[in-house]
Amino acid sequence: MAEIAAEAPNSPEALESFRIKYLGSKGTVKALMEALRQVPNEQKREYGQLMNTLKQLAEDKYQALKTELDAQAELSAATQLDLSAPAEPLPIGSRHPVAVTMNRIVDIFSRMGFSVADGPEIEDDWHNFSAMNTPEDHPARDMQDTFYIVDVPKMLLRTHTSPVQARVMENRQPPIRIIAPGRVYRNETISTRSHCQFHQVEGLYIDENVSFADLKQTLLYFAQEMFGAPRIRLRPSFFPFTEPSAEMDIWLGTDTEKNYRLTKGTGWLEILGCGMVDPQVLENCGIDSTRYSGFAFGMGIERQALRLYEIGDIRLLFENDVRFLRQFASAM
Ligand code: PHE
Repeated sequence: MAEIAAEAPNSPEALESFRIKYLGSKGTVKALMEALRQVPNEQKREYGQLMNTLKQLAEDKYQALKTELDAQAELSAATQLDLSAPAEPLPIGSRHPVAVTMNRIVDIFSRMGFSVADGPEIEDDWHNFSAMNTPEDHPARDMQDTFYIVDVPKMLLRTHTSPVQARVMENRQPPIRIIAPGRVYRNETISTRSHCQFHQVEGLYIDENVSFADLKQTLLYFAQEMFGAPRIRLRPSFFPFTEPSAEMDIWLGTDTEKNYRLTKGTGWLEILGCGMVDPQVLENCGIDSTRYSGFAFGMGIERQALRLYEIGDIRLLFENDVRFLRQFASAM
């Protein structure tokens, strides 16, 4: 007993040896317990009591020392922590050039009184095609162009932001003045775009007496604010949901190598599709086409980002290489 009392292990290793020596399966206490058998019967009681006291002593001492050592370990861990050391710098992200471009577009139209509307990226056939006057046999519905949701008939990834037009018109009456930025999907792996997801901003303006002149002036203002473009050009085109329809080009000229390439030598860069909303679309969405008229437009954002930041290759926008993206850290 004196021996146990004299022990003073002062490290976790020493404490463990203490435990093994006295309390382990080959330890002193165990050995003495086994010796009980050889003790003459009349002394067994006294011996047993003594053994129990000894075992208790060893166990108590072990527990006390363990508590003390654990507390010490905790304390030294805490003092090793230098609370005055400077923190690890957190990398601050930056907006993606596509997001920056999208925000600029939204900003310009907001100043003209347009508000932002939203719609789902997983869309139904009605809003994406039928309501927009796109017939069943239209090539845009082709399996090569549209991602359909397997197992859910008539559900698809929206191929343009135009379904937001239908959703807004179904829910409210004119005057309507909205833009709808967002992602769209097309299965166009063999085209020059060569990626299946890109971004568009849709615009819709419905009221009494809206004319093509309003459309033209709105888009001219946009082009000048966005690009400082001196001139725009509207070329006749076709979309099932507008009549008449047009595509708008902005004038860049061919003075620089870059502009020559971007405009394929013409000086004109196409940036959007537009037109007067087809009366059938208004009727499909519960709006009286004898009373109201309006215009709509839809523009791709990536192209405008290329133009705005003079980026030479559209693929750079989707590689998510931070060395490239970091360059736009100061853009808003
Ligand atoms: N939705 C058409 C497209 O994706 C663009 C468009 C929108 C054209 C609105 C006219 C009016 O190509």
